[in-house]
Amino acid sequence: MKSSFYNYFNTFTLVEYFIRHLEEFSHKICDWYRDNKRDLPWRNTSDPYKIWLSEIILQQTRVDQGMSYYLKFIDEFPTVQQLAKAKEEKVLKLWQGLGYYSRARNLHATARIITDDYNSKFPLKHKEILNLKGIGDYTAAAISSFAFNQPYAVVDGNVYRVLSRVFNIATPIDSTEGKKSFYTLANELLNKNNPGEHNQAIMELGALVCKPLNPNCELCPLQPNCLALEKQTIEKLPVKSKAIKVRNRYFNYLIIKHNNNILINKRSNKDIWTNLYDFPNIETNKELTENKLITSIEWQNLFTNKQYSIISCSETFKHILSHQRIFAKFWEIECNPNHLKQLPKSTTIIEQDSITKYPVPRLVDIYLKKANYLP
Ligand code: ADE
Repeated sequence: MKSSFYNYFNTFTLVEYFIRHLEEFSHKICDWYRDNKRDLPWRNTSDPYKIWLSEIILQQTRVDQGMSYYLKFIDEFPTVQQLAKAKEEKVLKLWQGLGYYSRARNLHATARIITDDYNSKFPLKHKEILNLKGIGDYTAAAISSFAFNQPYAVVDGNVYRVLSRVFNIATPIDSTEGKKSFYTLANELLNKNNPGEHNQAIMELGALVCKPLNPNCELCPLQPNCLALEKQTIEKLPVKSKAIKVRNRYFNYLIIKHNNNILINKRSNKDIWTNLYDFPNIETNKELTENKLITSIEWQNLFTNKQYSIISCSETFKHILSHQRIFAKFWEIECNPNHLKQLPKSTTIIEQDSITKYPVPRLVDIYLKKANYLP
């Protein structure tokens, strides 16, 4: 008889099957983890602050990209109090380039809550952790299990992939039903005596072996039990039902300069990049020629004829976000800001050299470097 978990259905009762399965699953992945885990700095600590910080950075960010940010943050803010005391602008500046800036704003806000309401001690109770700003089911389970060894299963992209393949489950992971059933399965499989290591192990297996493309099935400790491998459905799993809708946006950034001064814009909270800095922007629904731009209402509301001169227009910079494709052109314009019809709301005149101090989106950083505004 083949030694597959699933064949146990023939010989054992469902209950026996689950007991056997639970133990085998966890032991196999934990044994594999001890031999194969990466040595990562947040794994050598049980400090919930450091674990929380690493988990926020690693959401939507690869380990090799997130590592330098984690080390920079721990160096600058070794404790939650030090993070709480910092100005938001400093936190955003340190976060610059990582994207999804609400993570940094929430991190900062939550550091202040922990300092003010919890006497600078990370709450121990899962429910309280879950209530903190920017902490959802995944992050709360990660902190509870990694820092406090509490029995909460993590379910991230890696876990969805491993479970959908081992159990050959085609329920879409972005459906309500899918989320519920994977969450239930992950918690059933969780080794309640060793939840921290179990959670790290399943995620590491997903990251290193059960990869989205070209998984290393020959190295997988669950290979003899993997239903998707048996049924040749690995490449089809996990299933997602919704295709992400991506919209195109066209930015015309106006770099209004005079002497050594430049006009910058603090972004508001109704759009991407809240509280980061960029430039006054004329956004359109397609790419514009110079003539179309200077005859637009937005331009006419800003500039008086003959009181400006266009120095240059950049190439188009394409910037991809999860739900948006941004096509940006940067127009360098010599114009005394006092000659504008009105200073656009939320703009400030700064000395050109001091732009390095402001947190800017990666798109703007790339342009500034290319156009020699930055070292
Ligand atoms: N991705 C998210 N959390 C992680 C962790 N703790 N270790 C490695 N990769 C991760």
